[in-house]
Amino acid sequence: MLDLTGKKALVTGIANNRSIAWGIAQQLHKAGATLGVTYLPDDRGRAQKKVTDLSASLDPELVLPCNVQDEAQLQSTFDAIEEKWDRLDILVHCLAFAGKDELSGDFSQTSRAGFTQALEISAYSLIQMSAVAKPLMSEGGSILTLSYLGGVRVIPNYNVMGIAKAALEMNVRYLAAELGSQNVRVNGISAGPIRTLASSAVGGILDMIHHVEETAPLKRTVTQLEVGNAATFLCSDLASGITGQVVYVDSGYSIMGM
Ligand SMILES: NC(=O)c1ccc[n+]([C@@H]2O[C@H](COP(=O)([O-])OP(=O)(O)OC[C@H]3O[C@@H](n4cnc5c(N)ncnc54)[C@H](O)[C@@H]3O)[C@@H](O)[C@H]2O)c1
Repeated sequence: MLDLTGKKALVTGIANNRSIAWGIAQQLHKAGATLGVTYLPDDRGRAQKKVTDLSASLDPELVLPCNVQDEAQLQSTFDAIEEKWDRLDILVHCLAFAGKDELSGDFSQTSRAGFTQALEISAYSLIQMSAVAKPLMSEGGSILTLSYLGGVRVIPNYNVMGIAKAALEMNVRYLAAELGSQNVRVNGISAGPIRTLASSAVGGILDMIHHVEETAPLKRTVTQLEVGNAATFLCSDLASGITGQVVYVDSGYSIMGM
């Protein structure tokens, strides 16, 4: 039943083979989707090489630079999609950033610059991407983003990223309300803690994972591929009645009171 053959999917946020975006890209590919991927460019071209080499096994038709802080580059990414595909069916927003200084210590010490940067990259970027994707999804589509429990409850050291995730989850609802009339669904997955480049910047991430392993109903945290499976479902027609939701893929951790 789950068949994404013929669907054009853009996956953002692959940094390496630990990235949640990589788990999602693999499962979308497995379901038959045609992929485009983006990477965060750096001066020496290392990210381009890494993401090109890693994603080769999934035969992406597009491998594009996309720094969400660069408006012109973001527009070029979506211009390239229009030129190649003429439309977009699936957009996976799987990126976030906050300075390491903001991800430990007292929340009240969050700097203005750190707050602005975290919110801009991690939350505003979903609005920005949805705006440029909207005309390419005139016949419907699915937009998916990644959140974390720290956006609805206090998690030690998650600090400003919690505020960014709260904003991101509200973005999901406002975007779903706007885009629903053109049959574009917008959802989020709130994933359990996974060791990745981004999560290693959060103070005490290993303690968070161990706590989940002890407390969650499934007595373990989740894998990138499990998040990829849920993402593939949410982006498929099987989820045609689901929009504006944040679905927990967290081994059940979020239901526990103690
Ligand atoms: N790892 C976890 O425990 C966990 C749990 C829940 C949610 N998430 C979320 O999943 C998403 C992916 O993170 P991850 O854990 O796979 O880590 P990751 O480091 O593999 O991915 C983060 C990505 O963000 C990209 N990025 C950062 N700044 C950018 C910018 N200015 N423009 C474009 N891209 C930029 C990086 O290049 C990287 O590819 C994030 O939204 C993260 O908050 C992670």
